[in-house]
Order: sequence, then structure tokens, then C-alpha cells
Amino acid sequence: MARVKLMRQEARVRAAGATVHPLASPASVEAAALIDIERAGKRFAARGGAGAFDALDDVTLKVGQREFVSILGPSGCGKSTLLRMVAGLAPCDAGRIRVGGANVDQPLDDIGVVFQTSNMLPWLTVGANIRLGAKLRNLPREQVEARLPALIETLGLGQFVDRYPHELSGGMRQRASIGQILLLEPRVMLMDEPFGALDALTRDRLNVELLRIWQQSTLTVLLVTHSIHEAVFLSDRVIVMSPRPGRVLHDVPIDLPRPRDPDETRNDPRYGYYVTELSKMMGVF
Ligand SMILES: Nc1ncnc2c1ncn2[C@@H]1O[C@H](COP(=O)(O)OP(=O)(O)O)[C@@H](O)[C@H]1O
Ligand SMILES: [Mg+2]
Repeated sequence: MARVKLMRQEARVRAAGATVHPLASPASVEAAALIDIERAGKRFAARGGAGAFDALDDVTLKVGQREFVSILGPSGCGKSTLLRMVAGLAPCDAGRIRVGGANVDQPLDDIGVVFQTSNMLPWLTVGANIRLGAKLRNLPREQVEARLPALIETLGLGQFVDRYPHELSGGMRQRASIGQILLLEPRVMLMDEPFGALDALTRDRLNVELLRIWQQSTLTVLLVTHSIHEAVFLSDRVIVMSPRPGRVLHDVPIDLPRPRDPDETRNDPRYGYYVTELSKMMGVF
């Protein structure tokens, strides 16, 4: 049964022009596609008004419930555009995107987005910023307050709730941004280079924390990153996109055991193998 589904998935990905790697993980194949991007395209007007260009072309990608999928690709290949389309912040010009079976034509409550730079309001405390999204959505106050202490604890922000964003490090601000989204309990979290502006050590720590949070939740994550190491460490699958117009070139299942301890994972020979193979696919060497 699993084999049949696997073959079907391979056929779909091949039809979309991407390679499927032999280590396809049965878990990801069995999962229902919560995010379903089918032949999506996006055109933008060229700068100076001279015609239009394709930013994304024929992108097909399915992400199962509770899957953690990362997207790698050269700068300008349309990764942020694709995430914005999944978030309902920009329409498809071709194809369609469904989340949880519904066409995405506007931002959905089920989807949270974390950007590279934290979008906290400087005049509100960290606690008030974390609560802000819930307030804007009119979530019941008691429900929000009941969830908040555990979330703040998980994010290691206990001592910072009454501080203002400028009093926090970049890493702390990103944790708070993630907290703002998690408080809303979305089914899907989209992340656009969320740790790209942080130093390597902070990034590694937040990667471990993100995995822990994801492991304890039912979240489905679609993450855009420039870091091959980050993608391998975190993901069930890594998608490699082509230069503009962005298409899915490779769909690589990451067969590393979970939960992933940072030392054990990085010492696993498969980790090095995936980093090397993805580096080749990305044209690093
Ligand atoms: N709103 C827009 N209007 C016109 N061009 C855009 C717009 N957004 C993105 N682009 C262009 O589309 C291409 C893909 O952009 P983007 O999705 O930001 O790439 P990435 O995130 O992969 O670096 C780039 O050439 C970018 O300049
Ligand atoms: Mg981008």
C-alpha cells in the first residue's frame, strides 16, 4: 500500500519536472497533503514597466500534516513570493494553492507567518506584542491567558515579558515573533528565513528549540532558508528550487531519526551525505 502511494507521489513529482530521491520516507508519503500547491505560477511587471516576467513557473509541492519541509534556492528564485502565496498575501497567476482542502485566496486563521525580521511594535512590551495577534483576532481572553505561561516558558522568555523589544537581542525578538504566532495555534507555520539575521550560535540554539516545539505540537512547517545545514537538521524533506523562474528541481527526503539531538544528528554519516548532495544541487560545488 505504502509502496503504491510512494510510486504515485513519485509520478506526480516527476510529472512536475523534479527529481525524486530514492530514500522517500513512507511517513511523509502517507500523510495527507495539508498544503497543496498545484502548478502555481506568478508573473510580475518588469521594472520600468517594460513587459512582465515569470517569478514562479509550474510549482507543484505537497506538504503533509505535521511535516517539516524546507525550501532552498538561489536568491530571487521566488521563495518569498511562494510563501506569500501560500499565506494568502498574494494571488496565484496560474495553478492553485489549497490549505486544508480550501483554496487560499486570502489570509487564513490556520496559517501563521514568521518573517526574517521581527515585526514587534516598539511601544508595546514583549508580553503585549505576543498577545497582539490573539487580540486582533478577538480570541477569548481567558483562553489566551491560560495558554500564555507555558508558551513563554517554552520560548525561554520568562524574564523578558515586561521588557520592550529594543531591550532584547535579535534571537529573543525572533522567539517572541514565533510566540506571537504559536499563541494563535495555527495548523501551518510559514517561516521566511526566520533566523537569517542571527549569529550562527543563536541560530543553532533556535533551531533546536524550534524542533522541540514542533515535535510537541501538531504544526506543519514550511520554512525558507539559505542554510543547507539548517534545512537538513530540521526537515523531513528539502525542496531545491531553480533560479528564476522558480521551479521545484529536487525533492529530497531527509531520512534521519527523530527526535534529533544536535550532536547525534550532525555525527550521523547521513547528515554529511545530505549536506554534500544538497550543496551539489545548489551549485555550491
Ligand atoms: N511585488 C513585486 N513586484 C515585482 N517584482 C517582485 C515583487 N516581489 C518579488 N518580485 C521579484 O520576483 C523575484 C522573486 O522574488 P522573491 O520571491 O523575493 O525571491 P527570493 O525570496 O527567492 O529571494 C525577484 O526578481 C523579485 O525582484
Ligand atoms: Mg526571500
